Amino acid sequence: MGNRRAALTAIAGAASLALTLSACGQSGEGGSEANGSGDSKGGTIGIAMPTKSSERWISDGKNVEKDLQAKGYKTKLVYGEDKPDQQVSQIENLIAQGVKALIVAAIDNKSLDNVLQQAKDADIPVISYDRLILGSENVDYYASFDNSKVGELQANYMVEKLGLKEGKGPFNIELFAGSNDDNNTKYFFNGAMSVLQPYIDSKKLVVRSGQTQLTQVTTLRWDGATAQRRMDDILTKSYKTEKVDAVLSPYDGISIGILSALKSDNYGSASKPLPILTGQDAELASVKSIIAGDQTQTVYKDLRELAKVASNMVDAVLNDKEPEVNDTKTYDNGAKVVPAYLLEPVSVDKANYQKVLVDGGYYTADQLK
Ligand code: GAL
Repeated sequence: MGNRRAALTAIAGAASLALTLSACGQSGEGGSEANGSGDSKGGTIGIAMPTKSSERWISDGKNVEKDLQAKGYKTKLVYGEDKPDQQVSQIENLIAQGVKALIVAAIDNKSLDNVLQQAKDADIPVISYDRLILGSENVDYYASFDNSKVGELQANYMVEKLGLKEGKGPFNIELFAGSNDDNNTKYFFNGAMSVLQPYIDSKKLVVRSGQTQLTQVTTLRWDGATAQRRMDDILTKSYKTEKVDAVLSPYDGISIGILSALKSDNYGSASKPLPILTGQDAELASVKSIIAGDQTQTVYKDLRELAKVASNMVDAVLNDKEPEVNDTKTYDNGAKVVPAYLLEPVSVDKANYQKVLVDGGYYTADQLK
């Protein structure tokens, strides 16, 4: 880290000039003025988020900005509209503007190699936010949740609700996974399958579509409409006479698409109950859907905590301290094992949303009406 400090001092003049030039473009209002002394306090932290099309990333952006500003930094927050190229050029711009550190939630985890080399050359530390960036040595730390546990929570919920441990079944299940360019996808799916596979093997769970491999069930860019089309197709081809009892969905936006397909096929009527349907992120629309009895479950990840972890990491690195990590072996990105701090996800359904989300201050009771 000593080298980093020296380099930071050396580039301070250039960086403060860039900051002055870019001041009008800044989205963050808080923090003190850049002091040009090489001290990172008051410097600008670049935050690159993947998309505004999902409520969670909007919260992530706000939370991270708030935490960094409270620590005395300025912030520059950009969203990549789910376009990998756009994200790369946004990060290039942040580097050119002289940010002191980068927090990046990647769109395509393999597209950032070159731009992260540029960050490295400018001695800008990089925190991989929620999604691990692959193939690059220039990822300093990773802030996320226990991603395998997310899948296990979804699958265990289905096992419990279906009564599989009590020997009930067979039941029909269909499987959905996230975007194939997101490293989290395989953790969610493999976590879920570690629980479901034994029941598939013993034929207590039947996947009538036959689509059980990750490559068959991914959903590019986590897009709800894409999931809806796939579910439509599965219902048409594989459920002419049978009914589907459970659907593994990795994310609330995908669950919404799946629900639309199910409802178009008359699920949710008296003769055709909706299947158990999981999700992730506890997005407002999906929590409302759970309360209404449509979606069944979601996995809540407290984004306020994730933002804190990421901003603490930045603050520590810029002050030559070791950030707190609790995992140094799971997240090998192909170039190195990235030291990580992983938070605990929580399963939420109709029975506990009040306690977890409302009493926990994540949503007000009014928001959920
Ligand atoms: C994943 C993230 C999930 C969900 C998904 C779609 O990377 O871990 O919580 O938000 O992206 O945005």
